[in-house]
Amino acid sequence: MTEVRTAQDGGACPYPVREYDNATVGPVLSAAEGIDALRAEHPFMRSTFGNGFWTFTNAEMIREALQHPDVFSSSVVTVQDPDPPYKWIPEMLDPPEHTTWRQLLAPHFTPKAMERLEDKVRRRCVSLIEGFADTGHCDFLRDFAWRYPTTIFMELMGLPLDGLEQFLEWEHQILHPSAGDDPEHTQGMEAMMAVMGYFAELIEEKRAHPGEDLLSGSLEWRIQGQPIPMEDLLSWCLLMFMAGLDTVSIQLGYSFWHLAGHPDDRSRIVQDPAVIPAAVEEFLRYFSFVAPSRKVMADTDFHGCPLKKGDMVFVPLSGATRDPAQFEDAGTVLFDRAQNNHIAFGAGPHRCLGSHLARRELRVALEEWHRRIPDYRLTDGVEITEHGGGLYSIDRLQLSWQA
Ligand code: HEM
Repeated sequence: MTEVRTAQDGGACPYPVREYDNATVGPVLSAAEGIDALRAEHPFMRSTFGNGFWTFTNAEMIREALQHPDVFSSSVVTVQDPDPPYKWIPEMLDPPEHTTWRQLLAPHFTPKAMERLEDKVRRRCVSLIEGFADTGHCDFLRDFAWRYPTTIFMELMGLPLDGLEQFLEWEHQILHPSAGDDPEHTQGMEAMMAVMGYFAELIEEKRAHPGEDLLSGSLEWRIQGQPIPMEDLLSWCLLMFMAGLDTVSIQLGYSFWHLAGHPDDRSRIVQDPAVIPAAVEEFLRYFSFVAPSRKVMADTDFHGCPLKKGDMVFVPLSGATRDPAQFEDAGTVLFDRAQNNHIAFGAGPHRCLGSHLARRELRVALEEWHRRIPDYRLTDGVEITEHGGGLYSIDRLQLSWQA
């Protein structure tokens, strides 16, 4: 039931108020379509769910939040937790501390630096696909989408690949806890501690035997002439773990879900692989699944509405990338958009550091998969649901094809 606050009842401007839960489970695309529906009502709204929070729903408001860290701090991860007991670096830092870290990290994620990974990315992708191509079916997330970026990440950081299964388990406990199994998120916190313990041991090993990898390189970094404290190095490793693993897997899940159900788009990719970079961009726009949160730093007048210091704000990027004011026919996948300046990788100081790697991994996956498995479909009778929250994601994707 929507209530509308007006100037008469104390608010400085009208905005809808309702009990909107941003972390529900529903059919695929229900999270983004929920934001589409809220946007059709108003560019921002107040939710009374849990501790209460604002939700920004259109491109203008969302960009404004992302580009003004002086008002909208990144020190939080979810709207229900205004004071988290952890700090992911650089994601949860604000300028100027954040700027110093970006200067350290940026040279390691340039297009040129990522180009050097191309062969490894392609080899890894091909070997995973060839592992199941002849069977005629796969559990897309478990057999492919989770493993592929995880191994690339491990190589980039210089981690031994025999830790893969353990990594996948931690990733699952932190990022995909099933609400019923772990309501207090205890397993998630334990897994986070385990990841940090794992990195702490590895850092000691790298100190003794440095390699050509990012983790070894990080031991040489200096801030104001001082080496990075161990605690901060671990917070950076933890963030890399979160940001580098799950995101590409989720994006692959959505892209292949779409392609399995849209034979025309699929056959276009098979017939004309040159369209793949445009398809990658369009899937990023259409399924934009990252939904960050921010915390208001000072009492502020926001388009005539009073935001209070400490207020929490939900900033779903799909609100911007599916905004019809910015994209014609925003609710349709169109590979031929003349302009596709989406913000699926964010905007402002925290814009994704891994975007060049992510694009490369996505492009290579579409190329290599369709070379080997051009025709496939969703396996009959398997229900596919989606989680909302800070990252929307498909929970399951079974694909079948003629072996
Ligand atoms: C499809 C894949 C990906 C998407 C859609 C994505 C999206 C994003 C977004 C939206 C942000 C900003 C969040 C905010 O403003 O709060 C972000 C930050 C970040 N991403 Fe990605 N990402 C992807 C893949 C990757 C990969 C593969 C890596 C690393 C290997 C990576 C590393 C990072 C880092 C380090 C940050 C923090 C940047 C900062 O705080 O300055 N991402 N990503």
